[in-house]
Amino acid sequence: MHTITLINGDGIGPEISESVQKIIAASGLEINWDIQTAGADVIESEGVPLPDRVLESIKRNKVALKAPVTTPIGKGFRSVNVQLRKALDLYANLRPCKNLPGVETRFKDVDIVVVRENTEDLYAGVEEKIDEDTAHSIKIITRKASERICKFAFEYAIKNNRHEVCAVSKANIMKLSDGLFLESFRNVAKDYPQITSKEILVDNLCMQLVQDPTRFDVLVLPNLYGDIVSDLTAGLIGGLGVAQGANIGLDCAVFEPVHGSAPDIKGQNKANPTALLLSAIEMLKYINEYTYAEKIEKALFKTLSQGHKTADIGGNLTTTEFTNKIIENLL
Ligand code: NAI
Repeated sequence: MHTITLINGDGIGPEISESVQKIIAASGLEINWDIQTAGADVIESEGVPLPDRVLESIKRNKVALKAPVTTPIGKGFRSVNVQLRKALDLYANLRPCKNLPGVETRFKDVDIVVVRENTEDLYAGVEEKIDEDTAHSIKIITRKASERICKFAFEYAIKNNRHEVCAVSKANIMKLSDGLFLESFRNVAKDYPQITSKEILVDNLCMQLVQDPTRFDVLVLPNLYGDIVSDLTAGLIGGLGVAQGANIGLDCAVFEPVHGSAPDIKGQNKANPTALLLSAIEMLKYINEYTYAEKIEKALFKTLSQGHKTADIGGNLTTTEFTNKIIENLL
């Protein structure tokens, strides 16, 4: 039996985690969930939002499924999500964005993979207050991390039969930092002549994505652009409720949706578990449980095609009702 770390998060996290656990159990796959809490709720009892036991559990199990954890805005503790990615060196954030059956969107045939660098850039958290009216935030870009993520993007393209990798930057303005990212991309691209390499500025990319997203295949971006662009691409396929993701390192992988803890709908049985479920399906493939991954994916697609949906994608089912429909379709 697999033992997998489950961080069930806060906000809508516990609701969607329960849904995904139920669906996987109903598929017949037994998983021993090593449940780990993190975030604001554990500060009081353990003094920190990301206790060592969480990292130790992931290091031991090598794989984790993670629901969102709230980060206070403008004050308070450092993001648990960012700390986790950094502490485990989960350097690649993989966010595939593909149309789902039964989910109406403006564009059909969207099939984009966002590969986001996960360890540096403005996310390094090097900030200082100069005086009452001035703050500095330092953007860190290294050749090592840039080459590593670009190599990941090209390797992903080869393994997944994709044809093009496009580097996204703002190297016309940030000539040194984004310039180094782009230079690293060009160096790595030389080793992959079978894949077309392209470059685009991030502002132009956003404009083109909303005009015709079918122009793009694999995108590789520094951390902050990757964060923003992957919310944009999530919007192209139906919104955050259906956008999956994974954080991958050399030793471990943490699968988590793109979305946050959605405090506006917390505890209302309204949350869409699809993004976490799709992340879990990728996790099952990662641990070589292809039969169960495909079984669950088929049941999810059938459910959506039958018009059974949560409110965020135009339906009227609660989280529980939607979960039960998927379970019926597994059988
Ligand atoms: P959010 O992604 O939580 O919500 C944005 C909007 O999308 C809200 O209207 C929400 O109701 C909706 N939404 C998100 N997921 C949904 C789902 N599964 N089903 C239905 N509707 C859904 O973004 P927001 O409000 O900016 O962030 C809330 C908190 O989450 C913040 O503390 C943020 O730092 C944290 N966050 C955590 C992440 C993680 O744990 N990896 C990632 C992004 C944000």
